[in-house]
Amino acid sequence: MNDCADGKKSGFYLTTPIYYVNDAPHIGHAYTTIACDALARWHRMRGDDTRLLTGTDEHGQKIQQAAEKRGMKPIELCDEVVVNFRRLWEVLDISNDDFIRTTDDRHIEVTQYFFRTLLESGDIYKGSYEGWYCVPCETYVPEAQIGDERLCPDCKRPLVRMSEESYFFRLSKYQDALIEHYETHPDAIMPKVRYNEVMSFMKSGLQDLSISRTTLKWGIPVPGDERHTIYVWLDALINYISALDYPEPGGNWEKRWPDVRHIVGKDIIRFHAVIWPAILMAMNLNPPVRVFAHGWWTVEGDKMSKSKGNVVNPFEMVDVYGTDAFRYFVLREVPFGNDGDFSELGMMSRINSDLANDIGNLLNRTLQMIEKYRGGHLPPPSVFERARDVDFSLRDSAVRTLRDMDSQIDDFALDAALKTLWALIGAGNKYIDETSPWKLGRDDPDDRLDVVLRTLWEVLRLSAMLVFPFMPGTAAKIQRQLGLAGDISRERHAEWGWGNYLEPVIVKKGDVLFPRIDVVKWKEDYDARLASRNAEANPNSSPPVAKIETARLPQIEMDDFKKLEIRVARIESVQVVENAKKLYKLNLDLGFEHRVIVSSIREFFTPEGLTGKKILVLCNLKPAIFRGIESEGMLLAAEAEGERGEIISLAVVDDDFPVGARIH
Ligand code: MSP
Repeated sequence: MNDCADGKKSGFYLTTPIYYVNDAPHIGHAYTTIACDALARWHRMRGDDTRLLTGTDEHGQKIQQAAEKRGMKPIELCDEVVVNFRRLWEVLDISNDDFIRTTDDRHIEVTQYFFRTLLESGDIYKGSYEGWYCVPCETYVPEAQIGDERLCPDCKRPLVRMSEESYFFRLSKYQDALIEHYETHPDAIMPKVRYNEVMSFMKSGLQDLSISRTTLKWGIPVPGDERHTIYVWLDALINYISALDYPEPGGNWEKRWPDVRHIVGKDIIRFHAVIWPAILMAMNLNPPVRVFAHGWWTVEGDKMSKSKGNVVNPFEMVDVYGTDAFRYFVLREVPFGNDGDFSELGMMSRINSDLANDIGNLLNRTLQMIEKYRGGHLPPPSVFERARDVDFSLRDSAVRTLRDMDSQIDDFALDAALKTLWALIGAGNKYIDETSPWKLGRDDPDDRLDVVLRTLWEVLRLSAMLVFPFMPGTAAKIQRQLGLAGDISRERHAEWGWGNYLEPVIVKKGDVLFPRIDVVKWKEDYDARLASRNAEANPNSSPPVAKIETARLPQIEMDDFKKLEIRVARIESVQVVENAKKLYKLNLDLGFEHRVIVSSIREFFTPEGLTGKKILVLCNLKPAIFRGIESEGMLLAAEAEGERGEIISLAVVDDDFPVGARIH
């Protein structure tokens, strides 16, 4: 690694996988790229000389067939669809330094150079490949995908046993070297669960790998034997170094390759942590410093699939929620490395709580007070001479936040880094409550207000810098509202210090960063979008009709109704009930008292989605015990039978309505 004497890295190189160019971009693609972007932006601010690469994977059977269907040449199709990814990275504010396509000349040349070199050294040899082949699809089907009936998983027609001449890479030769490498570099595959998976796969024995096809036309020709094309995965992996002018003497690769890190989804870890490092070793190049595999997203508990119509389209998410809210949500919601479940309800809740409430309020309240009490003029840092313990303690938290986030980012723990920053934002809000500046605005015998205002401004100035890698647009807005000029991306951690901005500042309160989402309107919009997505996925099916219970009940007297004590309650927190799949324990605030109820709504909502909601509760229902927990009431919800089972909607009231209020 090229670490400088001051701890900065001089060749930090991060890559996303290259995406199949013909696929419609979805949340999985967006996720890896957003994560890489946040890491790259953090490292730039850390002072590391950083490079971020992404691109598209453009060879293979599928592209060839899709192009044939449309009566185009494969390259024409690629040129047309590559804009989908390029546009998505613009929309998502991705700061990649390069975009490689496997159809670029620079890539084709390097791939053929790899092939020639390995053929000369004997690590590639000619042999024969035997396997199950689908003639109409012109493709070999891996053993693992073949059922007892031996049908093609795509077209369902019978497979035939075929054998053909093929070039092979001597993967088996590198088994021991790889195992030894990973034993001495345990951080080279992260998280640990993937490290263990790869190690046990390698210990079960590696076989040589067939790396050419005579049946595939749309690929890079094997140099000197053009009946063969190079296996698409080998071609694809080489992109990481072909984008660095390899093997040109003095090329970018000399500086970057020693410090390369790949971020990929867990499904493609073996390609990156077994095949790729073996090829690099065979080329006398270092294996990647780290391969980090993140988990997979499901959508509201379901696997994502076109036919289910539940593919999360990142363009749509940005349209509805904004780039930064989407970036924040995917990075914050799931520990990086784990699987996660995406739900718009979850996203909407986080926008209202973490963004509108926490960071939005801190900025708003601070700027409002600086404007109201000081006409927008920020008190100078010299006021810190009068600082007290409560102010020092917030300053110390700020300094610690930068240090802690930096070490979390070193481990790629993006979610944890965001939590750390939000703890500081929470401390800032608490500091406002404790120091009550609005009281000082009226009566300030100890001359405290200036110190309080400057302290809050300092917390926000740091927060803007620290939030930038995750939400670049928001960070720039905060910075402008704080009265700071300049390009925030040029800020450097080492240049930041509490109170070290000495210029006079006039703050400029602007638009609210994240307007609160109205839950009722959101639900209407969400349902409408869901219905149109469903209609698109299944154009011939009628729109889903929910079945409702139509049986009527006998009439009751007004007095009967008056016996019901229904009140507005706020859900303070939600816990899952152990060993009960459907149950949540809800802690409710009724204003004048707190209550616990147990409710069987777990399969419909996430705890985050429920927390903070104001719902209606029947309070004078006789208590009942569920799994040992006493339930003191019942929440009101509408129920119906939807297309895929029961659906429910909670009876909610407006956010600003007082808790405890009775329904008459
Ligand atoms: N072209 C290959 C990668 C070659 S890299 C030398 C490829 N492309 S892909 O477009 O199918 O997938 C790209 C990435 O998206 C992978 O890292 C994959 O894990 C990720 N995801 C695809 N679906 C996903 C989810 N549902 N959730 C999270 N990420 C997932 O594979």
